[in-house]
Amino acid sequence: MDGIEESLILLRSGQCVVAFLNVCPHAGRRLDWAPGQFLIDQGRLVCAVHGASFERTTGLCVGGPCRGSSLRPIAVVERDGWLLLDETNG
Ligand code: FES
Repeated sequence: MDGIEESLILLRSGQCVVAFLNVCPHAGRRLDWAPGQFLIDQGRLVCAVHGASFERTTGLCVGGPCRGSSLRPIAVVERDGWLLLDETNG
């Protein structure tokens, strides 16, 4: 990803934060409804384009046109109150 700007989705569940590339595996579109605004319905992240729904902790699609595929996880670490890309893991 050198030199290319990417949009990430950060989801917190308690003390755990997971990150995914903001690209839907169905048609490669962003998942946000408006820049930085996402829909969480019944605990699942919903893609704005065709409504695929994803588990918050794994990124697995559990409903919609790309069921069984997953968001691309991005390794992050929390350090001193900051969330950083984990360069040791990818
Ligand atoms: S692009 Fe996300 S469900 Fe189609």
